[in-house]
Amino acid sequence: MSTPLQNHEPAPKVTVIGTGYLGATHAVCMAIMGFDVLGVDVDQRKIDLLSSGRVPFFEPGLPEKLEEALASGRLRFSTDFDEAAAFGDVHFVCVGTPQAADSSAADLTYVDAAFTALATRIDRKALLVGKSTVPIGTAARITAMVQSVSPLGEELELAWNPEFLREGFAVQDTLFPDRLVFGVSSPWAEQQLRRVFAPILDLDTPAIVADLATSELVKVAANSFLATKISFINAMAEVCEATGADVNHLAKALSLDDRIGGRFLKPGLGFGGGCLPKDIRAFKYRAEELGVGQAVSFLGEVDSINNRRRVRTVDLIRELAGGDLAGVRVAALGAAFKPNSDDVRDAPALDVARLLYLEGAIVSVYDPEANANAHRAYPDLNYVESMAEAVEQADVVALLTEWAEFRNADPDTLGALVNHRRILDGRHALNANDYTSKGWQYRALGRPAQAATVELASDLRDETPTLAV
Ligand code: UGA
Repeated sequence: MSTPLQNHEPAPKVTVIGTGYLGATHAVCMAIMGFDVLGVDVDQRKIDLLSSGRVPFFEPGLPEKLEEALASGRLRFSTDFDEAAAFGDVHFVCVGTPQAADSSAADLTYVDAAFTALATRIDRKALLVGKSTVPIGTAARITAMVQSVSPLGEELELAWNPEFLREGFAVQDTLFPDRLVFGVSSPWAEQQLRRVFAPILDLDTPAIVADLATSELVKVAANSFLATKISFINAMAEVCEATGADVNHLAKALSLDDRIGGRFLKPGLGFGGGCLPKDIRAFKYRAEELGVGQAVSFLGEVDSINNRRRVRTVDLIRELAGGDLAGVRVAALGAAFKPNSDDVRDAPALDVARLLYLEGAIVSVYDPEANANAHRAYPDLNYVESMAEAVEQADVVALLTEWAEFRNADPDTLGALVNHRRILDGRHALNANDYTSKGWQYRALGRPAQAATVELASDLRDETPTLAV
């Protein structure tokens, strides 16, 4: 992406409110694209880290881009909302919408607070843009709210621009998205979004211009579809387990049908993270409020299938251990919800480690990046600093997050360290034959105990990208 704004002067000034995974990446990428950007957060620690060129979480490629953006002089960070209101022409709100403490609804406290803080301060024509994932109807409600508290009244406009980036691929997905979605209420709002996304639109990226409700729905529908696809193959894994069929071969055969495709059809321990699980729950909750709960009641099943995989993983580890987990040493390889992330929110790996611990197993957890976050979430578990340390004297090795370090491990080297050569491949990430030929007992969800030797599903994996930016 080179001198992207040369044909688009004068460029709007951009603020990004909330500097988590989404906001920090968006702020950095906007600056890389040539805009003047102010990133704002209420958390002074995050602002200090980002200002000094350090990313507060693990995201491949982002530290380099942050450095580049800071060096360009186009990116600053602040905790000051007065400064943000005075600075920005387009304000992106990227704060979190976690699951509420007392229900499966989304907690909109941070979204409401961010919009209110901006709206009460902005005193010239500007566009507020929501990027957070919200229940349908939120944008309409917030429009009324900001216009009632703003000195500008109806002059202050709101748009919704959902974000589809994946953790681990955040920079790539932000600079080169599959599509842009603009939820707008006026031609002026669309025009502002077209200006601020001009460098991406110039790459012929499709833009869908829609009303506010549709743009909110696109996001939750996309995440629901992905979650459903994963749970579909994992439901088939359950059927495989009852019949002796092999879900790995099944997934491969299905994936070769272009209409189905192989992405998000990888069987295993299932989905986690800060998005898919809470988004399907919040969507179901909102649909029930709207009187269309039946239309998405299947999302409850998608969630249940997903959670059952965690329990079934523990069952297989128990079987490998001979029927009882008490006192069994288990090496838990992985804690993050997926590789190339240090995020442990609703992480299947960490959940399995916790369930093993509760059954009396002696669990050693190792994750290349997520140990610190995992320790904060579950201080009772034992965290170690290397794969070798985790597997030392293990009775069972459980691969729970498919980091390259685990996928590429040498079965003989690991075998020399363990007490028993028994491995549970929770992510269908290993070549069963490599292990069984070295005397390992190999088990994977949805595969018969004597798994076929030909590995077929490895190409269903989302590989770490090489950043072409
Ligand atoms: C997801 C969506 O993919 C993004 O498009 C969206 O922007 C984001 O949520 C969000 O709403 O912010 P992310 O949570 O980063 O992104 O992770 P994914 O790559 O979607 O993976 C989600 C989970 O599904 C992981 O635990 C992964 O291990 C699991 N998964 C994925 C499978 O179990 N099987 C698969 O075939 C693919």
